[in-house]
Amino acid sequence: MNEAQNKPIKPKTSVVVLYNHVGEDWYEKLRDVDPQSLEFEPEYPVHVATVVEEYEEIVRSLRRSGYRARAVNVGNDLKKLERVLKRNRPDVIFNLVEFFHDDSELEVAVAGMFDLYQVAYTGGTPFTLGLCLRKGLTKRVLQDHGVPTPRFKLFYEPKLPKRLGLRFPVIVKPAWADASAGVDKDSVVRDPELLAQRVEHVYEEFGAILVEEFIEGRELHVSVWGNDPPEMLPPVEFDFSALPEDYPPIISYAAKWNPLAEVYHQIHTVCPAPLTKPMLRKVEAVAIAAYDATECRDYARLDIRLKGNQPYVLEVNPNPDLTEGVSFMESAEAAGLTFDQALARIVDFAAARKHEPTPEQPPAHDAPLPKMPAIPNKV
Ligand SMILES: Nc1ncnc2c1ncn2[C@@H]1O[C@H](COP(=O)(O)OP(=O)(O)O)[C@@H](O)[C@H]1O
Ligand SMILES: [Mg+2]
Repeated sequence: MNEAQNKPIKPKTSVVVLYNHVGEDWYEKLRDVDPQSLEFEPEYPVHVATVVEEYEEIVRSLRRSGYRARAVNVGNDLKKLERVLKRNRPDVIFNLVEFFHDDSELEVAVAGMFDLYQVAYTGGTPFTLGLCLRKGLTKRVLQDHGVPTPRFKLFYEPKLPKRLGLRFPVIVKPAWADASAGVDKDSVVRDPELLAQRVEHVYEEFGAILVEEFIEGRELHVSVWGNDPPEMLPPVEFDFSALPEDYPPIISYAAKWNPLAEVYHQIHTVCPAPLTKPMLRKVEAVAIAAYDATECRDYARLDIRLKGNQPYVLEVNPNPDLTEGVSFMESAEAAGLTFDQALARIVDFAAARKHEPTPEQPPAHDAPLPKMPAIPNKV
């Protein structure tokens, strides 16, 4: 027998790609739409992958890289989640859970379960996930760390002070939502007279409101990954020049998610963003400072705008979208990594934190009492 045959076979790292999908998938219904029937010429495919298909693609990719991977849709089933964490513990959970009981805030609790059961998982901790769901709080943390972010006011009620103290134009966003929810054509307010009306409108649907100075400059999505130390990938720049004149140059909900909307086909990306070397260094310093300030891990995306030579962080996205060719993955590919290599790197960042779970100990009050020493007889 030669030496190679003697070597024990290294067990493959096992990965559960964990997600939560309940109900219908709108993208599935889109398949019934004939792209020819649209009133415009679509630039990008109208039939896009469903959420579940995307997760299955991640599993196939991890298998190609040599991991033992399977997908688990946790739905709203806590028992199923516990089975993954107790009986069929993987080495790593690829955490794609963004909801539980239809509540995005419970993604924090799900990540907390991984910690309690001591299973390594990809991406943000409960702290980071919770913090970044609160846009106003995140911005305060960024400010405390000296990371530039547009000036803003946070309102818990739709009542505006006489003097707003911000320079117009402003953008009105839900303070507690992400993924461009509540951002549309009318989000940018140029006329102070129209602000109250817009604030009321956003409040009705989403609650707390963020009013932020609108930055007219270029928009970059900057992906950062790794831990010791984190690294920036080549930024993606958004080209808004094909939008109609009356549409603000922003990534609205429709532009991001709705292939039936014309704006979805009018925003293009360039990666790597054409930036001078000093500008790239500046963007990198700001992006990494934002990643560190919010204690991101493994991978994240910072949405940034440039005002003159100064980058401003709009928001921090821990566990960002990993669709092939989009945002994070567009940057990874520009750095020369394939989809498979990029996903494998993310798993390996998490696997480096793998630790043996603490053996279960009976609680102290169940333990037998120590034997009392015999009390000597009185003399
Ligand atoms: N202060 C701002 N200045 C300019 N554009 C903004 C500003 N805030 C948000 N936007 C635009 O709105 C989009 C969505 O806002 P963002 O803060 O990234 O929240 P989310 O992506 O969670 O909805 C951004 O990608 C950008 O196009
Ligand atoms: Mg964003």
